[in-house]
Amino acid sequence: MQEISFGSDNHSAVHPLVMAALSEVNQGFCFGYGDDPYTEEVIALLRDSFGGNCDIWMVMTGTGANVISLQALLHSFNAVLCPHTSHINVDECGAVQKFTQARLLPINTPDGKLSPELIEPALGGRGDQHHSQKKIVSISQSTEYGTAYSLDELSALAEYVHSKGLLLHIDGARLANAAAYLGVSLKAMTSEVGADVVSFGGTKNGMMFGEAIISFVPELTQNILYFRKQASQLYSKARFIAAQYKAYLQDELWRSCALHANRMASLLAQELDQFPQVRVTQKVQANAVFVILPPEWIKALQPRYMFYMWDEVIHEARLMCSFTTREEHISTLIRDIRTLSECRENGIIQNLQ
Ligand SMILES: Cc1ncc(COP(=O)(O)O)c(C=O)c1O
Repeated sequence: MQEISFGSDNHSAVHPLVMAALSEVNQGFCFGYGDDPYTEEVIALLRDSFGGNCDIWMVMTGTGANVISLQALLHSFNAVLCPHTSHINVDECGAVQKFTQARLLPINTPDGKLSPELIEPALGGRGDQHHSQKKIVSISQSTEYGTAYSLDELSALAEYVHSKGLLLHIDGARLANAAAYLGVSLKAMTSEVGADVVSFGGTKNGMMFGEAIISFVPELTQNILYFRKQASQLYSKARFIAAQYKAYLQDELWRSCALHANRMASLLAQELDQFPQVRVTQKVQANAVFVILPPEWIKALQPRYMFYMWDEVIHEARLMCSFTTREEHISTLIRDIRTLSECRENGIIQNLQ
């Protein structure tokens, strides 16, 4: 067990209120596969939170949510435009390509965010039988760089995407962190800006497992029901996902967990800023801090504080905070960084004791 980890928000435990909710439904018999009163109730609650005319499905994983959402909207001859940093492009082992047979067309972005200006040059080949036909723009909110689209940016993007006859998919594995950062409702950031299909993650922010797919284009996504089963994402004991979501939605637990994680990331970035040898490379808006560190510090720090390298070439690390990150975790890391910086001033670099 790692004492302190900045490796991932997945390294966190489960929120005690979510655990309690799991225990509460852990009795008696209940229909499976979502035909249970808990799932029905939580779908109604989610519909209230997201607003409007939407269909909702529960799945097990964030990758599953992305795959199934995109599969419902794509033919094999289609293409999905996405930031080059997107989880679907980098971290899903080609799952989207496997299940949809469509192409992913990654677009380079400086901050993990797409804009009409970045998308426009990638839109050629429409109606040309030699080219994959662009169908979806997929973004992440918050992004893999810990940045967040503003409501204006989302509205402008959705309007542009629709004007080109495309659909807007949002990977919301960290939707809660973005809503907490912007101080807005889930509805304001999704249905009200014109998103088409969105996922609402739970696992990174207090749940044990479970993600929800929300479709604002129900007429286009009816087949999700079948794709979910084919992709092994239909969990039989569905009441245990529903119970978690009920606790997660109650008094907006998702928001307080995300606000805490975001606040920890801001604090960490602020503390790192005092060291001239360190450079935070992205705006800290959600729960991630991207930072360039001297390579010898990375070697000394990594055994004690689990974190991943984002870009080995420039020595850029990714430090993630979660609802379980505590201020003392940050002060301990900063204390060790101070020791390293003093060693460096004295011309000695040594491993931390
Ligand atoms: C932005 C984003 N989307 C999707 C996922 C996939 O989630 P899972 O690991 O549950 O498949 C992750 C996981 O790290 C993620 O960061």
